Amino acid sequence: MEYQEVLENARKTILNCKVCPECNGLACGNTLPGPGSKAPGNGAHDNWKAWKAIKLNMDTFAPDTPVNTECEMFGRKCSLPLLTGPIGAMTQYSKDDVTIAFNDGVIQAAYEAGIIDCFGDGLTPNTLAGSRDSANRYPGCAIPVLNPLPNEEIRQKIEMLEDSATLALAIVVDSAGLSHWKVKGFGPGSKTVEDLKYLKSFTKKPFIIKGIMTAKAAEKAVEAGADAIIVSNHGGRALPETPATAEVLPEIVQAVKGQTTIIVDGGIRHGSDMVKALSLGADAVLICRPFAVSWFGGGAEGVKTYIEKLRSEFIDAMYMVGARKLEDLNPDMVRV
Ligand SMILES: Cc1cc2nc3c(=O)[nH]c(=O)nc-3n(C[C@H](O)[C@H](O)[C@H](O)COP(=O)(O)O)c2cc1C
Repeated sequence: MEYQEVLENARKTILNCKVCPECNGLACGNTLPGPGSKAPGNGAHDNWKAWKAIKLNMDTFAPDTPVNTECEMFGRKCSLPLLTGPIGAMTQYSKDDVTIAFNDGVIQAAYEAGIIDCFGDGLTPNTLAGSRDSANRYPGCAIPVLNPLPNEEIRQKIEMLEDSATLALAIVVDSAGLSHWKVKGFGPGSKTVEDLKYLKSFTKKPFIIKGIMTAKAAEKAVEAGADAIIVSNHGGRALPETPATAEVLPEIVQAVKGQTTIIVDGGIRHGSDMVKALSLGADAVLICRPFAVSWFGGGAEGVKTYIEKLRSEFIDAMYMVGARKLEDLNPDMVRV
């Protein structure tokens, strides 16, 4: 499938999303529930704009050898340092609840493309159970991302996942700010370091904390035992007027690099953005909204089309900044 065809197909079925040629948070703006950002609605765009403000330093003085994008994350050999982002409730894009089908398609695509999928636990108990079954069908590539509900509810979910073929376990701490769900009686709330240590004690899998936006919070996540953190402001959906993720990444890298795996999300749309993030010290990137569009545009095949587009852009950008393997990427390759 061609990427253009994926976008054209998606426009016929997706709701609340204009399938813009560039997914930059402008057209969806202040739409929650929906794919946008928390009022006043500029968060997703701010994230996107911050990556665009960083430029790549082209330098072709390097041996003319192939680019290798392989890496290992949580014991999985990956073909790209890329994770797909969790969407807990696909009802924000569709009249029907297609969350389980979406998770199944993206997990299949991630498995076949050699990357990692993150899936949300959703608003209904069925979502997590159905997606766990997909994770079992495509073993070792999917990570459930649990909302910060009361500890005992999370503990029960961890116990239901522990024997599954999921790769790791994540808690998304910034969902505490999802006020659009709170009005519907779904109660995510804030967590302490002690809460997170307690929750980690129920899993033997790598433990990830998503929603880190300051160096201090990153240090607390490390103290809580995070094997990885995801630098994220929930795509501008949790708190308005935060900095962009690209802006805080360098100080977080300085605080915790080497102590935990650092993943970053928010407005990353191209392989060139991936090169920027890794040059600034991230170990991998996570992309969310464009995967919803790709799935509506072609199911697992549409998702794979977008992954292959990212792969080809990433290889091209690495080659042109003079990097031949991920370890070659460094801050000299970007102009901030
Ligand atoms: C409609 C929608 C639903 C989301 N649901 C979740 C969720 O359930 N859990 C979670 O951790 N993040 C959720 N996110 C946040 C994304 O995973 C990601 O952190 C954010 O969108 C930034 O990435 P992006 O700019 O590539 O979209 C959601 C985002 C959107 C747009």
